[in-house]
Amino acid sequence: MQRTEDGQTVRLVDYRPTDFVLLGVAMTLKLFEGRAEVLARLSLERRPGVSANAPLHLDGDELVLESLVLDGAPLAPETYEATPDRLMVRGLPESGRFELAVETRIAPEANSKLMGLFRSNGIWCTQCEAEGFRRITYFLDRPDVLAPYRVRIEADKAAAPVLLGNGNPVDSGELADGRHYAVWDDPFNKPSYLFAVVAGDLDLLADEFVTMSGRKVTLGIYTEKGRSEQAGYAMDALKRSMAWDERRFGREYDLDVFNVVAIADFNMGAMENKGLNVFNHKYVLLDPDIATDTDYAGVETVIAHEYFHNWTGNRITCRDWFQLCLKEGLTVFRDQEFSADERERTVQRIGSVRRLKAHQFPEDQGPLQHPVRPAEYREINNFYTATVYDKGAELVRMIATIVGPQDFRKGMDLYFERHDGEAATIEDFITCFEDAAKTDLSQFALWYAQAGTPTLTVTESWDAKARRHEVTLRQSLARGTAGTGLEPMVLPVRFGLVGGNGEDSVADGQVAGSAKLKDDLIVLTGREATITFNDLPDRPYLSILRDFSAPVTLDHEQSEAARLALARLDPNLFNRWRALDDLVAEAMTTAAKRAPGDTSPALKPVVIEALIALAGDDGLDPAFRAQGLALPGESDIARQIAENVDPDRVHEVVDAARAAIGTAGHAVLERLRDEFASSKEFSPDAASAGRRALSNAALGYISAATRDPGPAIAQYQSATNMTDRSAALAILAHRFPGDPQTERALDDFYRRYEADDLVLDKWFTLQATAPAHDTLETVKRLAAHPRFTMRNPNRVRALVGAFAAANQVAFHRADGAGYEWVAEKLVALDGINPQVSARTATTFRAWRSFEPGRRAKLEQTLRQVSETKGLSKDLQDIVDRSLK
Ligand code: ARG
Ligand code: ZN
Repeated sequence: MQRTEDGQTVRLVDYRPTDFVLLGVAMTLKLFEGRAEVLARLSLERRPGVSANAPLHLDGDELVLESLVLDGAPLAPETYEATPDRLMVRGLPESGRFELAVETRIAPEANSKLMGLFRSNGIWCTQCEAEGFRRITYFLDRPDVLAPYRVRIEADKAAAPVLLGNGNPVDSGELADGRHYAVWDDPFNKPSYLFAVVAGDLDLLADEFVTMSGRKVTLGIYTEKGRSEQAGYAMDALKRSMAWDERRFGREYDLDVFNVVAIADFNMGAMENKGLNVFNHKYVLLDPDIATDTDYAGVETVIAHEYFHNWTGNRITCRDWFQLCLKEGLTVFRDQEFSADERERTVQRIGSVRRLKAHQFPEDQGPLQHPVRPAEYREINNFYTATVYDKGAELVRMIATIVGPQDFRKGMDLYFERHDGEAATIEDFITCFEDAAKTDLSQFALWYAQAGTPTLTVTESWDAKARRHEVTLRQSLARGTAGTGLEPMVLPVRFGLVGGNGEDSVADGQVAGSAKLKDDLIVLTGREATITFNDLPDRPYLSILRDFSAPVTLDHEQSEAARLALARLDPNLFNRWRALDDLVAEAMTTAAKRAPGDTSPALKPVVIEALIALAGDDGLDPAFRAQGLALPGESDIARQIAENVDPDRVHEVVDAARAAIGTAGHAVLERLRDEFASSKEFSPDAASAGRRALSNAALGYISAATRDPGPAIAQYQSATNMTDRSAALAILAHRFPGDPQTERALDDFYRRYEADDLVLDKWFTLQATAPAHDTLETVKRLAAHPRFTMRNPNRVRALVGAFAAANQVAFHRADGAGYEWVAEKLVALDGINPQVSARTATTFRAWRSFEPGRRAKLEQTLRQVSETKGLSKDLQDIVDRSLK
């Protein structure tokens, strides 16, 4: 296990512990312009029972070995073999502790992959998850090798006045030649992927937090010069996260310091290194002029997520990378719960479900399908997916639903108690809930092994004479590319029988088939079960799968009248939203399947009325009403059509529906727009954000209906915050592309925010996502813009990523020119940053679902990329699996 050279597959079943046990690490990193010297002293011991002549194998990646010393004596060249990818040492002591001192030399400036030690705007920074530590020194670079680390960093004092490491600072001082050093000590055993070092000229926002047992923790957020004021909201979110984890899970922070560093060049959102989180600065830096409400919510979530990893990920880590969902699914669940408590639960749940459907469902239903716990991989970086993260979180949520809140907390307590300091597995995790709730979760564990989205089919039959309602639930799982099992799983289905008065009837049900019924929860365990409810006053409206209690495709034939009733009456707010969302999505899907040129409206007047009624209902939270107005996206509709998709047709339908809603709802929408428009004082709280969302949604519809850019221009000019300004600019760029007023607004935006890379990313994205065929010419022009660079992942995502993922019309241009352009960028990018190229390439995965012309062109493009010589393992893996 753990040999991951090109083409090799790593398998879960091959897991075995290392031959050598790591007892401690002492490192010195000397940073210079153009190079870094790394000395790692590893305390090791042969594992009892391991053969006396077994050599030590250490992982490397692009390393140069400078020296190798065993217990103070240089090793003879014939006792070891070093290549850039590995170090093998023979003749090590049969028993007892020994020290191997490994000296390597690396080039952070040349590291464009942003894995290992690299430089971002002059700042030295590391990213080690998953396998980046082996790019710093030869190591047992796998998550089940845990040790305490003591790290000394040396650098030029002017270039890097700030020197940060994991754990607590224990020493610092001056050196000759204007250099200085700092020593950091991390007493907690940790795997190498949580190692971090940062050095540079950074500003600090300092604060403190007193833990529940009264310990004072020094908090620091480090930013590039002049930007620490923009970290205020992140700091606030951090303190709220710390307090929440104490309240909700009894988890207290464990070191004397907690530092966060914001970096401009970063492959992912952020990283939970012990005591030293490193963030993409997009998830730290904010103020009302540069950031939208969505950005604020993103910072809050990511800050919380990384902080929560301190217990779920760091104190208890993963035995191997197959267990990635053990920390990621659980931590996403925790950050979702935090946001639900801090903001509004239903609105947050709608957001999470939208995300799941937009990102995880297509993954689970296409060629990149894999179980939440994969059984094999060629490149682990390609498994930081929506399935591992978001479906992983749904599995934890289902466990909580099945065992109930008390036993869920008991199970979590047990997990922390039993496995603190360990590298654990999914089995360990599940066992804790089995023990806490005294229940058998072995069938539930199938969720971790079987890929695919189950379909839950619901049928109803009402017997008016007997006043009896029968509800039948069936589950099925289609064979997908992962080829995993198709056994029935455990589906927790929350429900209610809603009466005409908007109240749930309390009815006892009799179960026939494999299911359990308790209160408002049916747990379906077999392929089918029928529940009979007796003595009902009237035919109830069945509100099924409340709060999306299981990640399934719901197939429920329900009359339009029943759905409209639920959209008005359902006491479960989530299902009120879903009743309408399903109606709209189905109508649009049906319309998009009709022949091109068929312009009969997608949405019936009653549906539009219901939508407007919900949006206009002052008894409801504005954020919820804004969710009601957000139409399903074009890619959601495309996914539901599933075959022979014509993206132009889908766009036409969505566009027409938007205009129809705008026209029919004009009076209400005008009122919402005015009533909920921003007040001068900006506050990022959820309620204020919800009001802005509602007002801006209304403006979108009004603009679509009137075909008049005037109101958006006016809002663009008078806006006092980025939420309103970018919402207006998006309407202009997407509804009025090419209009001279749009061009002027885009130019103005550029000039206003030219100095700020994060806002410039928005400028690139707004243009790249304009739904028009000639957007391809725009993105070609933007790729030649002096501010475009392939070296900054955010910028690549803002232009190439956004175009490929969020522009169904231009990316999927029938002539295939969109595919060609993205493919060309992918290959160029791959030589710089394979992780980002591989991620971008996933936008091709749905190729089989398109109409024959596009399908052929997509396939041809994928094949061309796949046959390109010298592709990274990352990109090769994605394109090969996509073609599967
Ligand atoms: N553990 C990080 C997080 O979710 C993600 C880091 C992933 N990095 C990578 N190179 N795949 O919080
Ligand atoms: Zn995470």
